[in-house]
Amino acid sequence: MPIKTIEWIEGKVKIIDQTKLPQKLEYIYCKDVETLREAISSLKIRGAPALGIAAAFGVVLGIKDSSAQDHLSFQKEMEKVIDGLARSRPTAVNLFWSLRRMRDCAEKNKDKEIKEIKAILEKEALQIIKEDKRCNRQIGENGASLIEDGETILTHCNAGALATADYGTALGIIYRAKEKGKKVKVYIDETRPLLQGARLTAWELLREGIEVVLICDNMAGQVMQEGKIDKVLVGADRVAANGDVANKIGTYMLAVLAKENGIPFYVACPFSSIDLSLSSGKAIPIEQRNSSEITNGWGKRIAPQGIKTYNPAFDVTPARYIKGIITEKGIHEKKGDVIIFEKEKYLQR
Ligand code: MRU
Repeated sequence: MPIKTIEWIEGKVKIIDQTKLPQKLEYIYCKDVETLREAISSLKIRGAPALGIAAAFGVVLGIKDSSAQDHLSFQKEMEKVIDGLARSRPTAVNLFWSLRRMRDCAEKNKDKEIKEIKAILEKEALQIIKEDKRCNRQIGENGASLIEDGETILTHCNAGALATADYGTALGIIYRAKEKGKKVKVYIDETRPLLQGARLTAWELLREGIEVVLICDNMAGQVMQEGKIDKVLVGADRVAANGDVANKIGTYMLAVLAKENGIPFYVACPFSSIDLSLSSGKAIPIEQRNSSEITNGWGKRIAPQGIKTYNPAFDVTPARYIKGIITEKGIHEKKGDVIIFEKEKYLQR
């Protein structure tokens, strides 16, 4: 049973405080949108699909006490809530996909009583959780066929249960391959600056009984050259229409190294991570985070006072480095230098 990262329990959003892992497994019950918004910004909850789910419940929390009597006033209040949530983190498109879906849902039901609209929005958020679970399972199924018995996979950041409502995207593939009786070993980059690999993926994979080896980010090239890696498998925060992928900082470096070493590089994500409105990865907004994430670590100040920093939380891997993108719809392979998503075929859900 995968760990439950996010749940809706009696009008509260229950999340694992991921900043405390692996030392402590602590839960937070968010009963208002502000607490949830802060949890998103501070990475207590993180990972693109989980952010989409959190945003949907953020809307539910944000409008639950609305005393609006007519649709226009209700809509204004809801837009304020959506705007606040949209400012929490900019890169993972699932967050915006989910907010748009909640807005569309309210709009479609605007003729109903406000009380009823609130209940419908809660149902919609629950539906988003349900769909994420289904996507995870299907991504796992689709991707497991690519993994051979005895293979070693390198992954980055955390694209597992801790980033979704179920067992994850990239890690879901590994779990599914294991369920099918394949032996899989995983190398995990520590993923500086916030160490999602060392803290979260290492914890999650050990918990699931997977053989895991932790390396520092700057060791990936050496490990590949030594022939230890068969495939690289990562998640995504946003995929542009040409298949360029934004994911945790360091992913691009891995993709280039993988190409140099002849290792297939795959991305796994739900279709809701694909942003067909952006023609290339150049248009993906990259989150810039606080310098203290670089200057401090291991509980103390590392770098000298006064040092300048630059801290982009994500990078963009051009599609030409990617062998395929695995979604719940199938494995989208590269044609030339781009990955084509057949819009008409995939847009009906
Ligand atoms: O900053 P984070 O921890 O939210 O970044 C998460 C990642 O980059 C994940 O790899 C990505 O969201 C895929 S999650 C299935």
